[in-house]
Amino acid sequence: MADVHSYIDTHRERFLGELIELLRIPSISADPAHKADVERAAQWLLAHLRALGLEAELWPTEGHPVVYGQWLGAPEGPTVLCYGHYDVQPPDPLDLWQSPPFEPTIRDGRLYARGASDDKGQLFTHLKALEAYLRTEGRLPVNVKFLIEGEEEVGSRNLLPVLEKQRDRLRADVVLISDTAMFGPEEPSITYALRGLCYLEIELEGPNRDLHSGVYGGAVDNPALILARMLAALHDAYGRVTVPGFYDRVRPLDEAERRMLRQLPFDEEAYKRDLGLEALWGEIGYTPLERATARPALDVNGLWGGYQGPGAKTVLPARAGAKLSARLVPDQRSEEIAALITAHLQRLCPPTARLTVRRLHGGEPVLVPLDHPALQAAARACEYVFGRKPYFVREGGSIPVVAAFDEVLGLKSVLLGFGLNTDAIHSPNEHFRLENFRRGIHTIAAFWREVARGN
Ligand code: BES
Ligand code: ZN
Repeated sequence: MADVHSYIDTHRERFLGELIELLRIPSISADPAHKADVERAAQWLLAHLRALGLEAELWPTEGHPVVYGQWLGAPEGPTVLCYGHYDVQPPDPLDLWQSPPFEPTIRDGRLYARGASDDKGQLFTHLKALEAYLRTEGRLPVNVKFLIEGEEEVGSRNLLPVLEKQRDRLRADVVLISDTAMFGPEEPSITYALRGLCYLEIELEGPNRDLHSGVYGGAVDNPALILARMLAALHDAYGRVTVPGFYDRVRPLDEAERRMLRQLPFDEEAYKRDLGLEALWGEIGYTPLERATARPALDVNGLWGGYQGPGAKTVLPARAGAKLSARLVPDQRSEEIAALITAHLQRLCPPTARLTVRRLHGGEPVLVPLDHPALQAAARACEYVFGRKPYFVREGGSIPVVAAFDEVLGLKSVLLGFGLNTDAIHSPNEHFRLENFRRGIHTIAAFWREVARGN
C-alpha cells in the first residue's frame, strides 16, 4: 500500500488536469450572466466529492448553491470543517491577460487562470489530500466536512442563514481554510487575523440636470467637486481616518505582537519596487505591514461623475458618486462603522447637494488565539513539509464567513493558505505556483494527521 505522501507525488499530474477542468468553468458570482456557470461549478464539485467517496449534496440558497460533503469514518477522531469557495472574481480587463482567464495555461511552473489561487486551486489541495488518504489508507485520521460556497467574492450574504439552519450537520472541532497567502515561496504562513469589511456606495445629486459649465459654472456648486472635497476630508495630514469614532473600538497592538510582526521578512524597498512606487503612505506611527494588516483603513474603490468620453465636454454634472470600503480590525463592527461613516458624510455634505449612502456587503474582522492547539498542529504540518517553522501573520483581506463560524458555530478557524501575494488574485494573469499546489496538498494531509494527534 502506497503511503499518503508518495501517492500525492505520483498523482500530481492528474490532480493538475482535474483542477484545470474546474478552472475552465467561469463561475463569476458577481455576474448574473454567469449564473448557469456558477451552478455548473457546484455540480462539478458535487460529482467530484461523490467520486472521492464522500456523502455529498447541494444546499440551495437565495443565491448560488453551497456544496456540502462529509466523511465521518473516524468516530474517535476530531472533526475538521473544511471551507473554500468555488466562485471567482470577474476577469476584466481581459486585454491584459496573456492567456485567456478561463483557458488555464502553464507557464514557468505556474498555472494561469482566474481562480487558480483564489480559491479553486487552494480548495483543491483539501480534495486531493482527502483522495490520497482514502486511496491509500482507506481512511482519514479525522472526520471531515466540506463546505464550499459560491458567493465568497460577493460577501457570503446567503451563507449565514445556512450556518444557522445546518448548525447540527456542521458540528465540528475546528475550521480549516486555504484561501490566504504565504509570506514568500519558501515561507509557510499561518494567518491568525483577517480584516473585516464595510462597503458603501455614495451618490451626490446637485442640479436637476447636467448644465453648461459656461452658463452656470461659478454660480452652481458642482457635485464632482463636492465629492472630491468630501473624500479628501476623510483622512488627515497624518494618514488617519477623520470619521469620529472610527478608531474607538480598535484593539491596540501590544508590544509583543508588534515585535513579532517586525520580525517578518518584509522588504519595504522590494514592496515599493513591485508596485512601481517611490514612496508609501499611511497612518502615522505604524509600519507599512501594520497599516496593511493590523490597522483599519478607508479607501475609495471607484469614483464617477461628469463626462468620461474622449475629448472635452463643457458640462457641470448633475451627479457624482463613489464606492468606499473600510477594512476593519477587531473589535470594530461593520454595521457601526457604516453608521459612523454615513453620519460623517452627511455632516460634510453642503446644502448645495443631496447625499445618499447605500450599504453594500460587509464582514466582521477576526483574530484567532495564537495558542489554539489546531494552530500548533498546522505549524507542525508546515514544518514537516517545508522543513521550517511557519510565520504567524495577519492578513489585510477579508473572508466574511470566518467571523460567523466563530459567532454562530463557536468554531475557530485555521487559515493555512498556499497562495502568494504576487499571485495576482482579482487581477489579470492570476496564477498559482505548481510547487505551492503540490506542497499545499502535502501540508493539508500532514495537518489532519497532526490535528488527530492532538497536542
Ligand atoms: N482570498 C481572498 C481573501 C484574501 C485576500 C486572502 C488577500 C489573502 C490575501 C478572498 O477571496 C477575498 O478576496 N475576499 C474579499 C471579500 C469581499 C469580497 C467580501 C476581499 O477581501 O475583498
Ligand atoms: Zn478573492
